Amino acid sequence: MAVIAARLRQANSDRKGLQRWRTLNTGTSVSARTIADDSGSYLNFSSNDYLGLSNHPSVLAAFCEAVTSYGAGSRASSLVVGYQVPHAYLSAQLAEWLEREQVLLMNSGFAANHGCVTTMAPFYDRLVSDRLIHASLIDGIRHSRVRLQRFAHNDMADLLQRLQQQSGNGLILTESVFSMDGDRAPVRAILNLIDDNGYRDQCDLMVDDAHGFGVTGPDGKGVGGEFSQAEVPLLTLTFGKAVGVAGAAIATTSEIADYLVNHCRELIYSTAFPAAQAAAISASVKLLQGAEGASLRTKLSDNIALLKQQAAALNLPLQATDTAIQTVQLGSDARALEVSSRLREQGIWCTAIRPPTVPEGQARLRIALSAMHSADDINQLLRALQQSLET
Ligand SMILES: Cc1ncc(COP(=O)(O)O)c(C=O)c1O
Repeated sequence: MAVIAARLRQANSDRKGLQRWRTLNTGTSVSARTIADDSGSYLNFSSNDYLGLSNHPSVLAAFCEAVTSYGAGSRASSLVVGYQVPHAYLSAQLAEWLEREQVLLMNSGFAANHGCVTTMAPFYDRLVSDRLIHASLIDGIRHSRVRLQRFAHNDMADLLQRLQQQSGNGLILTESVFSMDGDRAPVRAILNLIDDNGYRDQCDLMVDDAHGFGVTGPDGKGVGGEFSQAEVPLLTLTFGKAVGVAGAAIATTSEIADYLVNHCRELIYSTAFPAAQAAAISASVKLLQGAEGASLRTKLSDNIALLKQQAAALNLPLQATDTAIQTVQLGSDARALEVSSRLREQGIWCTAIRPPTVPEGQARLRIALSAMHSADDINQLLRALQQSLET
């Protein structure tokens, strides 16, 4: 380390100077609704546990039961001996529900996106991506070294222009619900654009449904319920958000899945997630499929409507969306940190999101709602926000 010490110190100090220094925070008790650490207890508006399933008794019971049967760890990669009955069950459960030929389990959404893009990109002449896609897709694109064209966020005219600018087979990449903005990609419009302009035989679509799966689409199926496998042949699901556990999957055709099993480095060279985790995810998916999932989604929608309505009544500068992710744009990093810290003083945990996670000059508060929040919680957030923005 001695050889890099001076440079490292400088790099860290530069980062601190930019108000972009990040540190790990240790929660002592965390749920979809509340969070506590050594500094106190807060209402949690920074969790992706949109339905509160991370604490659901059925999910916890499935986890514990499977730990007893299968042990704490998977012991090897999926292709060696790490793939067990709960993994196979989960994969089949999702394939049937989403009407996909195969659902390939991956250790994280980051690994799923990165691995899928780097492995599949060489089949295409170009990758055409929305400007605001997640870092895991961006890194996959970079590491694939396939030509990239980026279109302005959700801008169909710009997408068409990019498609017309160059020729060759393309993979179009977008997110269903954008993680830092909470708005949705116009997936139907993208498909219509491809059809109407003669690109159907030249372009495939990959959608990262990290923030949609479980909460949007028919029965919470997300993009997989709204669009067929032919329309979206590469679909990323994550299990660390509405599903309330961790891990991810690629829902795709058998042929692509077979290729990924043989070539995707993130799948081949990594220990499989534990069987108990697979069992917990399956229990959570079962809840999503049933009446309880439906009622939690209704509660979440009510919370979204309440937040938007009250924020408008208070004239708060909320960039409203129809999803669980709402933002307050604050511009500078310093301002975002200041407002987030004032909220903290009033018992609200809402993390400031700064570049490079979002574009320069677009630091913001990202408010993540959950079905576990009560109307009082939301009113408390809004009152605190009003005060924090004023001072
Ligand atoms: C849009 C999007 N895709 C992928 C990921 C990565 O998922 P995971 O947290 O499972 O690695 C995230 C989460 O951070 C995300 O927001």
